[in-house]
Amino acid sequence: MANDYIVKDINLADFGRKELDIAETEMPGLMALREEFGESKPLAGSRIVGSLHMTIQTAVLIETLVALGADVRWASCNIFSTQDHAAAAIAAGGTPVFAIKGQSLEEHWDYLDKSFMFPEGPNLILDDGGDATLYILLGARIEGGEEFGVATSEEEVAIQAQIKKRMEASPGWFTKMRDQIKGVSEETTTGVHRLYDLVKKGQLPFPAINVNDSVTKSKFDNKYGCKESLVDGIRRATDTMMAGKVAVVMGYGDVGKGSAASLRGAGARVKVTEVDPICALQAAMDGFEVVLLEDALSTADIFITTTGNKDVIRIEHMREMKDMAIVGNIGHFDNEIQVAALKNHKWTNIKEQVDMIEMPSGNRLILLSEGRLLNLGNATGHPSFVMSASFTNQVLAQMELWTNNDAYNNEVYILPKHLDEKVARLHLDRIGVKLSKLDKEQADYIGVSPDGPFKPEHYRY
Ligand code: NAI
Repeated sequence: MANDYIVKDINLADFGRKELDIAETEMPGLMALREEFGESKPLAGSRIVGSLHMTIQTAVLIETLVALGADVRWASCNIFSTQDHAAAAIAAGGTPVFAIKGQSLEEHWDYLDKSFMFPEGPNLILDDGGDATLYILLGARIEGGEEFGVATSEEEVAIQAQIKKRMEASPGWFTKMRDQIKGVSEETTTGVHRLYDLVKKGQLPFPAINVNDSVTKSKFDNKYGCKESLVDGIRRATDTMMAGKVAVVMGYGDVGKGSAASLRGAGARVKVTEVDPICALQAAMDGFEVVLLEDALSTADIFITTTGNKDVIRIEHMREMKDMAIVGNIGHFDNEIQVAALKNHKWTNIKEQVDMIEMPSGNRLILLSEGRLLNLGNATGHPSFVMSASFTNQVLAQMELWTNNDAYNNEVYILPKHLDEKVARLHLDRIGVKLSKLDKEQADYIGVSPDGPFKPEHYRY
């Protein structure tokens, strides 16, 4: 179909292609998979719907899936994260993509709907945060007679409206889509929580691979990725001097660890809040002061949520913050900060994805990306190299679901450790890492094979 895409400006394709060429040099895992499987095309016959930030790195992922034989259609999983030149390059290359930086919530669900429109429908989902899976499964349950709950957020209003629209246009469509999907691979912590929840409720109708919990994903992208991209986002948004400022990081999981390290690396004095005693102890022993948010409100300059939880920064917190405090979120969804409660305040837009909000006291807040993940809204997300590790897991997961589908039940799986180690191995040469080799006796002594896996399943890294 001609022009089967929605991008900001197709003329940005040349710029996108140049950046893609550079990114490829930093994504050795994906390029190695092209080399290994480009001829045998294990994904031939697969039709993959992707719902994941439409960045330059994702463009390399998409072109890898295509090189391995997949038919692909793509939408972004966030209204602010698209890099328009990346989307243009993918569209110009002939893969349908529906993503514009700054699209509305209504467009978000409409574009996701469009990404399902293969002539024969898709058979695999590649998800980030679970929106594509939610769209199909919620729609199918509504078709099956379930009622929508009362919408409590703009997001829910938008998805319900889109589902109703699709049901009117094509009765039975969601059920048909659900029944032909062979599996989903999920990128992030929040989406993985949703999948385990579906299993608990007996509502997961196909196998899922939890890519997030590959060691070479969450212990790298979530941590080292945020270490680079958090401060990048704050700087591009505000140009504020980071050194000497007091920053509070809420949550000390993988993203929190990277975020706290990012701010410390820039010279900020970093405090951490946690609810989990293990993570709180880790933060303290990494040298961070672990505090209650309430006790840091009037003294901190920068507040960053990393929890994947909701209502972490609430309106009563924002009322106590000092003038020109910077407030942002790097977790997946925008409900970590009670942005809706700020809507009746005076907003002054400074530039795209940066707003100044006047509080009743007269103090102003700088809110980044309207509370959506700021490293992708205000900057360009994680660097290519770390995304190569994440996306190599994604491609391996899609290959598993496509070529070995019968081996999986309708549960959530993690890729086997030998593949996790393979992903790491593929990234060593690029940064000059020399790997030592176990001899047979040493391997026997610690009870592993000289070629790995090198750790038992329960090892935590
Ligand atoms: P995690 O589960 O490792 O860490 C979250 C931490 O937040 C936990 O230690 C938990 O105890 C803590 N927490 C929960 N509620 C809290 C509260 N009210 N106050 C203080 N701490 C609280 O999860 P992970 O992998 O760090 O992911 C966090 C979020 O970031 C998820 O939404 C995930 O999808 C997203 N993510 C974002 C990325 C980005 O590039 N922006 C990259 C990877 C993940």
